Amino acid sequence: MINYYQTGWLKFLKLHPDLIPRKIKVLYYLSFEDAFLDLIRHKFPHKKHLTVLVPDFYCTNVLDNWKKHGLKYIYYPLDSGFQINSSAFKKYLWLYEPDIVIVFNACGIKSGLFSDFSWLQSFPKKSLLIEDGVHQLIHPPAVNLINNRHFFIDSLRKVSPFPGSRLIGDSSALDFCPPRNSFFSSYSLKSCLLFSSFRIIFRLGMVLGLGSLVSASHTRLLKKHDDIIGTHNLPHSGPKIFLPFINRLNYQRLYRLKSAQIKLYDRVLFRNCRFPTVSRLNIPATDFPFMHVYPLVFSHSPDQKLIDHLHRQGIIVWFKFTDCPWSMDRSVLFLPLGHHITASDIRYIADKISEYYFTNPNGIYHVNGFRQTGHFAGGALPLYINPQLTHFHSNSASAE
Ligand SMILES: Cc1ncc(COP(=O)(O)O)c(C=O)c1O
Repeated sequence: MINYYQTGWLKFLKLHPDLIPRKIKVLYYLSFEDAFLDLIRHKFPHKKHLTVLVPDFYCTNVLDNWKKHGLKYIYYPLDSGFQINSSAFKKYLWLYEPDIVIVFNACGIKSGLFSDFSWLQSFPKKSLLIEDGVHQLIHPPAVNLINNRHFFIDSLRKVSPFPGSRLIGDSSALDFCPPRNSFFSSYSLKSCLLFSSFRIIFRLGMVLGLGSLVSASHTRLLKKHDDIIGTHNLPHSGPKIFLPFINRLNYQRLYRLKSAQIKLYDRVLFRNCRFPTVSRLNIPATDFPFMHVYPLVFSHSPDQKLIDHLHRQGIIVWFKFTDCPWSMDRSVLFLPLGHHITASDIRYIADKISEYYFTNPNGIYHVNGFRQTGHFAGGALPLYINPQLTHFHSNSASAE
């Protein structure tokens, strides 16, 4: 069975810990939202009504929590490749003068704002720039900080088997520590319990080959966990027992693997066919190592029939961020990457997506769940998938 979450630790680790340069400091929190709240608590101790500029492709659950903490947010638009150009971004900075600006490296694709810094002149002097790296496994010694008001925050549970989030910034700017002893509270115990239950039920579903159990572990337990994360007023530190492992993350091994996996997705998804409603993203190869998922962007709302089809075939994936403004007239399917995914898994996923769209060589395909006939404009020859071949794949996918 294929899914996003990886549970094995060994492939993620190396023997020697990382050395962090002195000019950089790393603080460890329970979650992205805990790190974020602690940072703004220290940087704006007296200011009450803070404004955050966020991309319109963002997690609404996080924004709802921020609202409860008294923050106001304003969206800036991203295109289908999760980018905004510098001159448009500049206008948002000038117009709203936000206290906090979030730049999200969605799916692990680095924001193009970091290759054209012309917006920096319009960046309000007292504002914070937070790079949301929850979709990246960030190597702290390698981060490029623009200045001492620029920070990174990650969310390790999304990109590795370890929990918690790291707040990374200039040493002079992070002159505080996460609240002491904050770990032992009902908030963190509840979140640890829910996350552990998710992992156990998820693992059980994987071992028993029960897609419905794997799916329910996400939609019920993980959702419950995500709902309580970020709701506490006091930011919490991370479970320190994991720090020796987190300091030994083997970045290079994962980066090499992800680069190869992205290239393979690109080849097997687009070599023989062009999907009628998919926009092929132009992702720079330099971003491949840092990607969390392979994003398949569609020009229509989420297609539940495609999800049902993939789940039936043992591919437990979803369209993500379906309730944010970016998703009004498009959707993005996250396809998994990582140590738990093999080359034959990727071929199998591509086959199953193709199978859904192109059920026979006469050009019968599905758009948003509806069977269409005829040839779609501009498409190359649809790929015909032999059912016997896919049956063979479905037996071998999880074993390889
Ligand atoms: C883009 C983005 N940023 C931040 C977060 C918050 O991360 P955490 O749950 O670790 O607080 C999420 C949560 O899913 C997210 O999707």
